[in-house]
Order: sequence, then structure tokens, then C-alpha cells
Amino acid sequence: MAYLDLLAERGIDGAHPGGFALTRALLGREMIDSNTVVLDVGCGTGQTSSYIAKKYKCSVVAIDNNAKMLEKAQQRFQKDNLKIRLVRADAMCLPFWPNSFDIVLAESVTIFTNIIRTLREYFRVLKPGGTLIDVEMTAEMPLTVEEWKDVKSVYGIKQVPTQDEWTCMLKAAGFSNIQIFKGRMNPLELLFGNRLGEEFSAHFNLMKQYYRKLGYRVYRCN
Ligand SMILES: C[S@@+](CC[C@H](N)C(=O)[O-])C[C@H]1O[C@@H](n2cnc3c(N)ncnc32)[C@H](O)[C@@H]1O
Repeated sequence: MAYLDLLAERGIDGAHPGGFALTRALLGREMIDSNTVVLDVGCGTGQTSSYIAKKYKCSVVAIDNNAKMLEKAQQRFQKDNLKIRLVRADAMCLPFWPNSFDIVLAESVTIFTNIIRTLREYFRVLKPGGTLIDVEMTAEMPLTVEEWKDVKSVYGIKQVPTQDEWTCMLKAAGFSNIQIFKGRMNPLELLFGNRLGEEFSAHFNLMKQYYRKLGYRVYRCN
């Protein structure tokens, strides 16, 4: 089963590098109040959207293109009694007017899409001066053709940009004030075991094998 389908089938929460702990830390740095409008792109099971709506009592719109993920997110929002607008949509073609959101959050989503197209969409739907927070896998150095085949076979993605390449694409999409926080895959998890179970062994083994080559970054920009 493809990696994203597996995440959806198993309903894995916090399916991004740094996990939910990073999400909380990143949001804690933002000025969010009840007037803030947030778009959670590729919301997965809805954990982050739910957290934002509960903690900040603000408007949250959550989108994903995977029916199973949307089902899990819907169940969560209903259980938590949250009025989060949940939309089935493609990040590369967002069904929102320009200047709609104060914050666009994407946690390990953009890399699964046509990156530049998606970044342009984030820019279009953000209000002037709005903030993009994007947590994405980033190559610490360019991969060889063979290495690249391994990565592609596990995640089905078309590229893993380096930090410089991400930065270029963000600029090309219109973003400025680009701040970058560097992260590495969790060494304890890699050392002590695959918390996700046997089905995720391809992902886990890849992370171990490419520990020095694949990291992640938080790209925060306006
Ligand atoms: C690695 S998961 C991360 C999910 C969630 N952001 C999290 O951190 O738990 C990637 C998510 O992006 C969604 N996704 C991938 N490509 C997408 C696209 N083109 N449009 C919308 N969602 C997409 C997947 O369905 C999946 O829910």
C-alpha cells in the first residue's frame, strides 16, 4: 500500500517530522486569537486543526484530498464538538478566494504535490502579510540517482528539495521574510524502534539508512 494510503488506513496522527510536539511549539510562537483564520492544508486525521480550534477558539478550515483521512478528521471534529470547516480539496488548486487566511499551515504535505504550484496557492489564499508555516522533508545534500530511487519508491514523491531549493521555490511563489528552523529525524525513535509497526518498515528503514541525508525544515514566511 502507498505510504499516504497506509497513514490514512491506520489513522496515524501527527504524521510529520517533529510530530505533534513540534506543532504545539510552532503554534505557540504565533499571535493567534479568536479573530485569526487558519487553513490546515493536508490536515490528515485532523489532530492539528482540532488543537488549534480548541486552544485558540478561532476559525479553522481543514482540507485534505484523501477520503479516508477526511472521514477520520470528521469523526474527530464531531467527537470534540468543533465547528471546523472540512473540505475535500487539492492543495494545488485550493477552492478559496484570494486573501482568505491569516495562517496557512502545512505539515508534511507540500512535498507530496507539485511544490511550486502548491506554494503559489498558499500565497494566493493568504491575506497580505499572512504567515505560511510549512514543515517539510529536506535533503541535507543532493541525492544520487540510486538514493533517489529508494526515496521515491517509499513515498511516491517526485523530489526532495534541499533547503536552498525550497527557499528558491518559496521566493518564486511570492514569499518573503523566510525563516528556517532546522530539524533532524528523531534519533531515539530510529534507535529504539518503529512506533508505527511492521507495515511502516519501508519508511522506518529508509529513515535509518538516510539519517544523514534526509532531514526536515520548518519554513515560516509571509
Ligand atoms: C504525511 S500526511 C500529514 C498529515 C497531517 N498534516 C499530519 O501532520 O498528521 C500528508 C497529508 O497530506 C495529504 N495530501 C497529500 N497530497 C495532497 C494534495 N495534493 N492535496 C491535499 N492533501 C494532500 C494526504 O492525504 C495526507 O493527509
